[in-house]
Amino acid sequence: MEKTLLIIKPDAYENRHVGEIISILEKKGLIIKDIKIETFTKERAEGFYDVHRGKHFFEKLIEFMTSGTIVEIVLEHENCVEYVREINGNTNPENAAEGTIRKLYASSMTCNAVHASDSVENAKKEIAYIFNGKNM
Ligand code: CMP
Repeated sequence: MEKTLLIIKPDAYENRHVGEIISILEKKGLIIKDIKIETFTKERAEGFYDVHRGKHFFEKLIEFMTSGTIVEIVLEHENCVEYVREINGNTNPENAAEGTIRKLYASSMTCNAVHASDSVENAKKEIAYIFNGKNM
């Protein structure tokens, strides 16, 4: 069964939306395979978002992702990567569809409540990075 990594970002944690987000995911049939709470150091955030290094939003993204607590979740479902991205909605909350997590809880492109892997290959890499090689 396919897996993906979902991160509940500092804005959603700070706003006490963790339970509601997990509830949405479970109601959509996703299985929680592992879960962890962490506060990213700068080095760890930069490693996680290495593909975005050098982009205009990189510094802002790292500053935000190290600003508070995050919740990291391994999810399982058929076609999981695409399914979770649909549930999350567009990266920019202004363009997110009604009922998506970002439409409900995101306030900007940076403070956008959740992250999810964008391909099966990246899901494997991200899960390994976050869970130190576990859950492969
Ligand atoms: P995420 O799914 O965590 O993956 C990379 C993040 O970078 C993305 O969500 C956004 O929070 C942020 N991001 C992507 N594109 C932009 C952009 N054009 N401007 C600002 N932030 C961006």
